[in-house]
Amino acid sequence: MVNETNKIYQGDALDLIDQLMVSPNLIIMSPPDSAETKFNQEQYREFLSNIYRKCMNKLDENGVLVSITTDRKIEGKIYTKHIDIINSMKDKVLFNYKIWAKKLGTNLYILTYCHILCFKNPKSRITNNKVEEWYPDVLLIERDKIKGYPSKDSFPSKLIDIIVRNYSRAGDLVLDPFLGSGKTAKVCNELNRKWIGFELSPSNIEIADTFINGKSKKEKVEIGELNELNELNELNELNELNELNELNELNELNAEENLFS
Ligand SMILES: C[S@@+](CC[C@H](N)C(=O)[O-])C[C@H]1O[C@@H](n2cnc3c(N)ncnc32)[C@H](O)[C@@H]1O
Repeated sequence: MVNETNKIYQGDALDLIDQLMVSPNLIIMSPPDSAETKFNQEQYREFLSNIYRKCMNKLDENGVLVSITTDRKIEGKIYTKHIDIINSMKDKVLFNYKIWAKKLGTNLYILTYCHILCFKNPKSRITNNKVEEWYPDVLLIERDKIKGYPSKDSFPSKLIDIIVRNYSRAGDLVLDPFLGSGKTAKVCNELNRKWIGFELSPSNIEIADTFINGKSKKEKVEIGELNELNELNELNELNELNELNELNELNELNAEENLFS
């Protein structure tokens, strides 16, 4: 049974959400990429649809579900994950849609922006836009890194802070079904919100625990500061996951460029 707050539950979000006995006022979620799961493309679509719908069913009637995802470039095509998410929530209301710009610039292999989709139930009486920093449609926010956790998988604490202040009040309950580095929990502690986190990976839970309890600090990553080496490291991580084989593509592209130069 999942009813204790300010706690990380280890396990599959799809199972844990069924055991959730309390209604969150706000859900902030950033599911793993398809390559981080055991699913093929079709199964992944089903996974997204299932988890979003299950989360929506648990939400308080005046609650908000905020989805933060980056579309992926896979073998030269862009997989528009956010459209699958919108399609699976057709009977809900998509009432706000922002872009988080991770940095200004272009990356041939990873999109540099993220879709922030805000859903509510049709009968919800939620009021929008209390917080001024939430007004722009495009939010340019620098990333912060948590020790031990890959920054490419993580959204900025500042973004969570804005969302939590905009869509919840002190004492409200916030659920993050893919807690990762623990940023949602940490922000909730700072803003006097209760929280519940789900996370599959025990080693990520250790990282999150250390961060939430103040034993590790955020490392600042300035916009534009991510140098090529870092990006190559990120690409290497993706490669290790067999996601895109991007380094090979990069090498091939470089080789082609050399041929034509
Ligand atoms: C995109 S990351 C979330 C990052 C987080 N929002 C942050 O800013 O740190 C997805 C996280 O979900 C976890 N995860 C993957 N599959 C899961 C599942 N079925 N249930 C729960 N957690 C899962 C991964 O270990 C990873 O930490």
